[in-house]
Amino acid sequence: MTEYVKFLVYRYRPEDGKKGVYADYDVPVKKGMTVLDGLIYIKENLDPTLSVRFSCRMAICGSCGMRVNGLEMLACHTQILGLRRKHIIVEPMRNFPLLRDLVTDMTPLFMKQKALKTWLIRRDELEQENPTIQYLQSEEELGKYLQFTYCIQCGLCYSACPVVSTFPAFLGPQSLMKVYRYFADSRDEVGRERVSFVDKFEGVWRCHFAGSCSAVCPKGVDPALAIQLLRREALK
Ligand code: SF4
Ligand code: FES
Repeated sequence: MTEYVKFLVYRYRPEDGKKGVYADYDVPVKKGMTVLDGLIYIKENLDPTLSVRFSCRMAICGSCGMRVNGLEMLACHTQILGLRRKHIIVEPMRNFPLLRDLVTDMTPLFMKQKALKTWLIRRDELEQENPTIQYLQSEEELGKYLQFTYCIQCGLCYSACPVVSTFPAFLGPQSLMKVYRYFADSRDEVGRERVSFVDKFEGVWRCHFAGSCSAVCPKGVDPALAIQLLRREALK
C-alpha cells in the first residue's frame, strides 16, 4: 500500500503583497525519496506554481537549502521516511530576503564573502594566473584548512545563526570561516591583514558561540571553530 506524507509548504508570492501562507499536499512516498523529490512531485503533479531551487540533487551544488520541520537542511540530502513524521513542514531559509515560496536571495552571503576577499591571493598576479611551478603543501599545511574547503555555500549556517537574525550586519559564520580558510593556507600571501578584516564588532567579536552554524552544516564544516581560531589570531 502506498504511504502518504503531508507536506505543509510555505507559499509566498511577492505580487500578492501579502504574507506567505502554508499550503498542504499529500505526497506518495517510497523508500529513498528525499524532501526535494517530494517537492518535485508536488510541482509536477499537484501545483506547478511552486518555486524551489535545485540543481545537482546530490548535496554538491548548495542550491536546495531550506528548513524542514524547523531545522536547516539540504532538501536533496534529507530522506522523507528518515524524518519519521506524517507531516513535514517545509519553509525557506531565514536571514535572507525571500524571493518566492522556498527561494531566497543569496546576495547577502555572497556580498559578505566578496567584501572579505575570500579567495587565494598572491602578490605576483601574473604567476597566480599562469603558474610556472607547482606550489606543494605538506599534509600538515593542508590539515590546517582542509575541512573548511568542503563548504558548498548553501547558506544553511547563515540561516541558522541567531546573531545574523538580530544583527544583519554581522559578517556571519560562513564568511568568517572562509576568511580563516585562506588565512590558514600557506599559499595565500595576504597574511595577518586577513585577521584585521574581521577583528571588529560585526566580525568575530559579535559571535555568541551558539554553535548552530556547525550543527546544521551538511558537509561537516565547523564555522564556529573557525571563528574561535580567528579570535585567537586577533588576540595575538
Ligand atoms: S559552512 Fe556548511 S552550512 Fe555554511 S554555507 Fe558552507 S556548507 Fe553550507
Ligand atoms: S540540489 Fe544541489 S545541493 Fe541539493
